[in-house]
Amino acid sequence: MPHSEDGALAPDPLDEAAVQATVDLALQHIATASNLDELKGARLAHVGDKSPLSLANRSIGQLAKSEKAAAGKLIGPARGRISAALAERTLALESEREATILVEEAVDVTAAPVRRRAGARHPLSLLQERVADIFVGMGWEIAEGPEVESEWFNFDALNFAPDHPAREMQDTFFVEPPEAHLVMRTHTSPVQVRSMLEREVPIYVLCPGKVFRTDEVDATHTPVFHQFEGLAIDKGLTMADLRGTLEHFARLMFGGEAQIRLRPNYFPFTEPSAELDIWHPGARGGPQWIEWGGCGMVHPNVLSAAGIDPEEYTGFAFGMGIERTLMFRNEVPDMRDMIEGDVRFSEHFGMEI
Ligand code: DAH
Repeated sequence: MPHSEDGALAPDPLDEAAVQATVDLALQHIATASNLDELKGARLAHVGDKSPLSLANRSIGQLAKSEKAAAGKLIGPARGRISAALAERTLALESEREATILVEEAVDVTAAPVRRRAGARHPLSLLQERVADIFVGMGWEIAEGPEVESEWFNFDALNFAPDHPAREMQDTFFVEPPEAHLVMRTHTSPVQVRSMLEREVPIYVLCPGKVFRTDEVDATHTPVFHQFEGLAIDKGLTMADLRGTLEHFARLMFGGEAQIRLRPNYFPFTEPSAELDIWHPGARGGPQWIEWGGCGMVHPNVLSAAGIDPEEYTGFAFGMGIERTLMFRNEVPDMRDMIEGDVRFSEHFGMEI
């Protein structure tokens, strides 16, 4: 008796009971195939070239002529029944698979969409850009300098005496090793000196950027904050130009009602120096003067340190904190809200780009 390759016995093509048993086994496999892959296995085993009935069919050729017809009548319909069962089961499993796919891949068009929050730009960035835009609108340029700055630019060139208290450890982050004389810049004023050295006069620059001081974080302090510095160097500039510029700036920032006031003060790099106050009609505690920043006429020593002849040119400068400006302009009572990075804080400043 011939064997199929996987060992299944091919029935004697004249043995009706054996043929029937082969068919029964095939029908059982086909009926229990639970998916199309399993059915493929059953097809190979029962109708493939090496299947018992294919082998039995081939063996008919060797039978005596008288037996061929009887064997053919037995094997042919047996194979037919298996093929029919396969076709039927294939249809059933295919429609089962389609039904599953329809359920698994169904899209519920009534389901609530997943909304991706667009986020918001940080109000400090928005404010910094607004300030920059105002000065660019007046024809000024934006200048930048390094955050790790040499002590010379941060202090000496700005006419700080060697024993000035601001150099001491409690204010300034010194960068190791001490011989390198590097600090984390404590203000944006060193960019004034860099601008004077790098550019040709006349100079009109606005220098926004990060600054660093050894302060503890609390409602009104953070060790890393932002300032913007303004510097104008030209022939014949006076305190009146400084005042006019700051007034124009204040009105664009705080509205047409805004007023400014200059109070005498001291800074090593300006002479005379002034504290700039702004009249803030919408302040929290009622209309009041609020201290906004420092300003003055650039000290002749600073002009000389930057290679500009103080006999020929004069200049004015000013510097303000961006966090502080945001605090009183937009009524943010606690500076910590600005550094925590909670998008809900940024969102209520709007999506202005
Ligand atoms: N650099 C000063 C500070 O950080 C602010 C300042 C005052 C800047 C007067 C100036 C100025 O340009 O003229 O406190």
